[in-house]
Amino acid sequence: MEQLVLGTKREFGTLDVKIDNSSLLFKGFSNTNVCLMTHNDFVSKVPDGFKITGVTPDCPVAVMENEDKKFYGLQFHPEVNDTKNGVKIIENFLYNVCKCSGEWKMSSFIETTIKGLKEQIGDKKALLALSGGVDSSVAAVLLHKAIGKNLTCIFVDHGLLRKNEGDEVEEIFKNQFDINLIRVNVKDRFLSRLKDVTEPELKRKIIGEEFIRVFEEEAKKIGTVDYLVQGTIYPDVIESGVGKGQTIKSHHNVGGLPEHVSFKEIVEPLRDLFKDEVRKTGLELGIPENLVFRQPFPGPGLAIRIIGDITDDKLNILKDADAIFREEIKIANLDKELNQYFVVLTNLKSVGVMGDERTYDYTVALRSVKTSDFMTATWSRIPYDILEKISVRLVNEVKHINRVVYDITSKPPATIEWE
Ligand code: XMP
Repeated sequence: MEQLVLGTKREFGTLDVKIDNSSLLFKGFSNTNVCLMTHNDFVSKVPDGFKITGVTPDCPVAVMENEDKKFYGLQFHPEVNDTKNGVKIIENFLYNVCKCSGEWKMSSFIETTIKGLKEQIGDKKALLALSGGVDSSVAAVLLHKAIGKNLTCIFVDHGLLRKNEGDEVEEIFKNQFDINLIRVNVKDRFLSRLKDVTEPELKRKIIGEEFIRVFEEEAKKIGTVDYLVQGTIYPDVIESGVGKGQTIKSHHNVGGLPEHVSFKEIVEPLRDLFKDEVRKTGLELGIPENLVFRQPFPGPGLAIRIIGDITDDKLNILKDADAIFREEIKIANLDKELNQYFVVLTNLKSVGVMGDERTYDYTVALRSVKTSDFMTATWSRIPYDILEKISVRLVNEVKHINRVVYDITSKPPATIEWE
């Protein structure tokens, strides 16, 4: 019988694991491999039929296997960059143990998905909430290729998008792809619901609820729809399955599923894909690169980048400032390197001087991070001369900004967004 023992020594960090490279899992490896350990308990005795194929000084069973039954157990994380050759371990498992042939290609995914959608939906009608983000965009184009005009996309433009974004989304989907798109311009409605609201979670809640309400109203105008399409991707499936821990921020673009839209079934064509695969699919479908590689943008939009209450004037200041920041990052060729970068309109006003005049205007903060999973992030080391150019442009070109600061906090302890 195997035993799980609470270790006296915790192993957190990268360690040399002594491995048995005659194992199928470690084919092509030397006899040690640097691996990431994060545990304080360990298996002290392996089950019958298993042998130990990896150890560290403090972990007697770092890897075990039963080759006949094809069971393999690792104490370390093969999936992280800190484990050397981790991908090779996973490949060995898939190719050598499971005998996978690896012939799956993105183009075959597109073909089979479109075929499957055609069969599933036939000549019925489907509805999709398009945000202009990569997931819903790819889902829209896939569905459009499968069912054409029987797909209707509703694009709720809450006015909290980045500068010109609403028009860009409309141009791409309506004109380039000829998708049946309804753009609902409801900025005033959102701003009046958000009037004097300063609490970040309340902003999210109001935006989520209002979004659903607008979507439902538009859907009702269309009449009966049979299918509701969602751009759910695999990490969403995992995250919604975990459901533990404290809510730091409610990260939902929308406030759940619309209750007052009747539909038969939900269609989630991207459910099995990771983000990079969604992007590849998008490129193969001919979606423009700037949309496919768009940095993540929160559902509540600029509302959570305006600290304190939201007004139309503040929104315009932030839109202009953010557009300048993004433009300069692109000019500096940093846009592919930085994972998320944006401007925050702080609620702070301070004294400055412009020409001979005293000013009393807003401070904006530049935020830019490098991250692979958005759960942790480090602030980006943008060169000073680029920061200076951005700062000069912001103060000169955007009225009511007289001070620019750069956020040098990583996550944790800060979060990426300020609200
Ligand atoms: P934080 O600020 O929690 O952000 O470090 C991590 C990532 O999530 C995005 N984010 C949101 N996305 N609705 C969203 O759809 C939200 O309410 C929300 N809040 C944060 C954030 O932009 C970053 O990519």
